[in-house]
Amino acid sequence: MNRLQKVIAQAGITSRRKAEGYILEGRVKVNGTIVRELGTKVSAKDRVEVDGVPISQESSVYYLFYKPRGVISAVMDDKKRKVVTDYFLDVPERIYPIGRLDYNTSGLLLLTNDGEFSQLLTHPKNEIEKKYVAKVKGIALPQALKPLTRGLKYKGEKYAPAKYEILSVDNRTETSIVQLTIHEGKNHQVKNMLEAVGLPVQKLKREQYGHLTLGNLKPGEYRALHKKEVNQFFNS
Ligand code: URA
Repeated sequence: MNRLQKVIAQAGITSRRKAEGYILEGRVKVNGTIVRELGTKVSAKDRVEVDGVPISQESSVYYLFYKPRGVISAVMDDKKRKVVTDYFLDVPERIYPIGRLDYNTSGLLLLTNDGEFSQLLTHPKNEIEKKYVAKVKGIALPQALKPLTRGLKYKGEKYAPAKYEILSVDNRTETSIVQLTIHEGKNHQVKNMLEAVGLPVQKLKREQYGHLTLGNLKPGEYRALHKKEVNQFFNS
C-alpha cells in the first residue's frame, strides 16, 4: 500500500506536493469515488483517476544502461532510428530515459517508469553531478579551460561552473582527452562548453551520474539498480 500522492507522483503526473493539491481540490478518484484525504493509502488493485484519467500503477523499475553511440535517447523515433528502449524488449514496464544523451554520445543513461525519480534527478536545484570524458580537437591547456570553472555564456545559453581535468594530450594528432563534471543537463552542454573554450568535441562519453558508474557494462548492456542505489538519490 502506498500513499495516494506518492502513487500519482510515481506515475509521472506531477510532483508529490502538487499531487496533494490535486487531492485537496477533489480532482482525484479512487475506485470511482473522490478522495480528499491526504493520508489515503491505495494498493496496485485500486483504480486511481486524476481529472477522470486512470493512471497506471506499474511497480517502479530502475535501470542503468550503457548507451552506445548512434542511438536516440527516446522511446520512439519518427525516422525509425534505433532508440534506447530497443535494448529493453524483455522489460514489460513502460520505461523511458531520464534526461538524454545526444545521438552520438555514449555512456551512462538511466531509465525508469518512476516519474518522481525522474523529476528528482533532472531538477536543476538538486545539482546531481555528471562526469563526461571528451576527445577534443586541439591542445588542451589549463589557462584555456579555466573559464569553465567560473561558468560561461555561449550561443545565448548560460552554463554553471564546471570542474575539468586534462587526462591526456596528443601533440601529433593535436587532440586531447578532457574530463568535465557538470551538474546541469542543458542541450549539448558539454559540447558547447568545450567549443566555447576552443576545443570542439569529436567524441563524448558519460562515465558517471551521481554515485553511479558504468562498472563492467559494455555498450548496449544494462543492469537493474539496487534498491540502495535508488534510495541514495532520495536521501542525498
Ligand atoms: N553534453 C553534450 O554535449 N551532449 C550530451 O549528450 C550530453 C552532455
